[in-house]
Amino acid sequence: MKSLIVRSMLLAVMAQTTWAAPPAPVIDVYKSPTCGCCGKWIDHLETNGFTVRAHDTADVAQHKRRLGIPPGYASCHTAELAGYAIEGHVPARDIKRLLQEKPQARGLAAPGMPTGSPGMEQGARKDPYAVLLVNPNGSARTFSRY
Ligand code: CU
Ligand code: CU
Repeated sequence: MKSLIVRSMLLAVMAQTTWAAPPAPVIDVYKSPTCGCCGKWIDHLETNGFTVRAHDTADVAQHKRRLGIPPGYASCHTAELAGYAIEGHVPARDIKRLLQEKPQARGLAAPGMPTGSPGMEQGARKDPYAVLLVNPNGSARTFSRY
């Protein structure tokens, strides 16, 4: 009986340790060296617990093609984590939800540069926009709305 209690206490401690230090998800971001809003989006990711590896490149489009982002969904920067593409100013909470739900998909896209999205703040102005889940065949459906 006593060893059972000790064992369950040990398990509780181990579980706690696991929760206390979740591995920070690593995200690779491909961006133009002169893009200011890309840098602000990176700040938003880091604030939300992501470890960012930023890659400056003159050819971001090459990564959009490689990761299967259809031209119509393009934004300024393109990111990659856990086998998914993240296109544009996608909020960190959507990326976390993606990692939790693990859908069959190419990734997420916030097309264009919506004012009020993370990294695109402009005072109180918030334009409505959708985050799209890009399906394996290149079609898309709404993942979340802001
Ligand atoms: Cu941007
Ligand atoms: Cu950008």
